[in-house]
Amino acid sequence: MAIQSPEGTRDLLPDEALFWSHFKSCAEDVFGCYGYLPIDTPIIEQTELFVRGIGEATDVVSKEMFTAISGENLKKLLEGGSLKAKSRLSLRPEGTAGVVRAVVQHDLVPQGAAPAKLMYAGPMFRAERPQKGRQRQFNQIGVECLGAEEPTVDAEAIIMLMRFFVKMGIPQESMVLLVNSMGCEACRPAYRDQVRAYMNEHADELCETCMTRAELNPLRAFDCKNERCAAIMADAPKITDHLCDDCREHYEAVLKLLDGAGITYVQDPTLVRGLDYYTRTVFEVQVTDGLGSQNAIGGGGRYDKLAEEVGGRPTPGFGFALGYERCALALQAAGVEFPQAQQCDLFVACVDDSCRSQAFTLVQECRDAGYRCEMDHQHRSLKSQFKLADKLNARRVAILGPDELAEGRVKLRDMATHEEALVGLDEVLAELGQALL
Ligand code: HAM
Repeated sequence: MAIQSPEGTRDLLPDEALFWSHFKSCAEDVFGCYGYLPIDTPIIEQTELFVRGIGEATDVVSKEMFTAISGENLKKLLEGGSLKAKSRLSLRPEGTAGVVRAVVQHDLVPQGAAPAKLMYAGPMFRAERPQKGRQRQFNQIGVECLGAEEPTVDAEAIIMLMRFFVKMGIPQESMVLLVNSMGCEACRPAYRDQVRAYMNEHADELCETCMTRAELNPLRAFDCKNERCAAIMADAPKITDHLCDDCREHYEAVLKLLDGAGITYVQDPTLVRGLDYYTRTVFEVQVTDGLGSQNAIGGGGRYDKLAEEVGGRPTPGFGFALGYERCALALQAAGVEFPQAQQCDLFVACVDDSCRSQAFTLVQECRDAGYRCEMDHQHRSLKSQFKLADKLNARRVAILGPDELAEGRVKLRDMATHEEALVGLDEVLAELGQALL
């Protein structure tokens, strides 16, 4: 049997690969208006970065990371040796940890400087059970703003993401924006103790996984997909009832700014997100159509302690990532079609093989002038060449025949109107320019 792509991965064929490029460049345009500049970090990082940054007890780190082992290290391991920390590598499951590592490593936010606003796009890897909208390799576009803790940063990024989704064609009414505050190191420990105590009271009703996590990180129980656990956790103490004054003030300011921008949201005190670095604001955008249970098209929040976790000086941060594949499914559900990849300004057809070398030269001249131009390479009949021109969506076809060429002329056909005109061989470029204006 022919080799297939690995489970949970997907080929982006030309139509969709072009759409992905278009999607990324729209994000660059929109996010660029808010001051975000591109950054490109490695796809592999030291495993330690994710363990410290995302949290050892998260599913992402404890179950879903792909480890990368170089040939020499594999040999070492097979021979019973062990690896140094810096040789333990993993494929990135998300982009935030790598960006924060780069900010710290290159000191992109010197003390007193304005925040660094960075955006990235590319593949992430999580060994999850594949299903619709959930892949093992998927593409994210994300932004990270480092160096400011003010609520305007949070609100501005959320507004920017909602504007982007609408601009791309995801209907406003099919999206739900959930927001919450996770508190900070001053108020969260006491809240966590309360949740743990509540969970212990309900120990016989909660699943084993929730109870084993209760000690290390009880808030993870809010994410449990088990319906019984969800029902019990719905009555657990709410973080928003236990925020310290600073966190409450921060959260209320974010909500006020969203209100001012006309953004509708739902406050969800059970929204804890699956990564441990969050402090204060967290949010998620879910869609109601086309995605089933994997309905989060984007999410993020504030992570004021992450830079310190990875060895940097205190640097507050806020960011989000959207999942391209889930957005594409939401767009399909909304009836948005990918534009056709095949586009051709001019197809050069030959009446017989004696015209081929002049056709080859003409095609080359048109391409050099920046036109998308194609010809047949396989000696097809004129009829088949027209079929190919149709398939390529050619806007014009130049027909090169021996009689016309002897007079230095070619026939130029407009494929939309079927009108034909005889033009000089040396006038094709100018005609094309006029016609495609
Ligand atoms: P996340 O919520 O884990 O956050 O992922 C962001 C988005 O990536 C999700 O909303 C979803 O659309 C997409 N996604 C996640 N996992 C998969 C998967 N297995 N298959 C397809 N799509 C998926 C983060 O990754 C954080 N780094 C976001 C962030 C940035 N927080 C602060 N800054």
